[in-house]
Amino acid sequence: MQKLIVGNLKMNMENLSQRDTYGKDFLEEFKQMKTKNHVAVCPPMIYLEYFYKLLNKTGVSIGAQDCFWELYGSYTGNTSPKTIKSIGAQFVIVGHSERRQYNHETDEDVARKVLMALRVELMPIVCVGYNSGGEEIDNVKEQVEFIVKNFSQDEIENIIFAYEPVWAIGSGKTPTTDDVHTMIMYIRSIIAATHGKECAEGVGILYGGSVVAENVTDLCTKTYADGVLVGGASLSPRKFAQIVRMLN
Ligand code: PGA
Repeated sequence: MQKLIVGNLKMNMENLSQRDTYGKDFLEEFKQMKTKNHVAVCPPMIYLEYFYKLLNKTGVSIGAQDCFWELYGSYTGNTSPKTIKSIGAQFVIVGHSERRQYNHETDEDVARKVLMALRVELMPIVCVGYNSGGEEIDNVKEQVEFIVKNFSQDEIENIIFAYEPVWAIGSGKTPTTDDVHTMIMYIRSIIAATHGKECAEGVGILYGGSVVAENVTDLCTKTYADGVLVGGASLSPRKFAQIVRMLN
């Protein structure tokens, strides 16, 4: 089955010259890349159009790192999923732990964003795993259940989950493959409890947190993840391309 490899560039490339250098190197790596998998990159919102135009012919998809929960109106500073879609993006990350932490996003906010993303046929990548102080497993249960209970089976099939243990993000530390596998199965079981086994098996579940070329094969294949969400290592087009190659 095809894996999905998503690069989350976060709030990097803080000027045009850095963006251009990154874009040039990225294009160099990916223009000849042959991969059976699906690759996507999520740049800062302001560069979405640039990256869409740059990578349009490479087969690399574009995603946003967030969106708002309304499609238009007086919401200063927010970006409509419709605008994101109109630029050519295919994905939108929602509920990343950094947004839950720094922007105080709740499960309800995340669900509202998912609803609007689905309405304009943007595929939401819902990040779960934030540890708010209790047991991580309870956090994951709450976050996944909130989505699962608020969306129909048809909708759930168009949502991707990304399991990201917060302590693994940017730390260079990763859980064991057994632990990742257990969490992925657990997320599937939560989906299955409401929407049935068949639906649960069709939902994409990614792993994210300190993924690099050296660990991606184990973290993705041994765990039966449907792909990976890559932060730090995607800031180097060369390292990101290595990750993609490892999964070929
Ligand atoms: P990392 O980030 O790969 O730098 O750990 C992952 C993420 O935040 O999605």
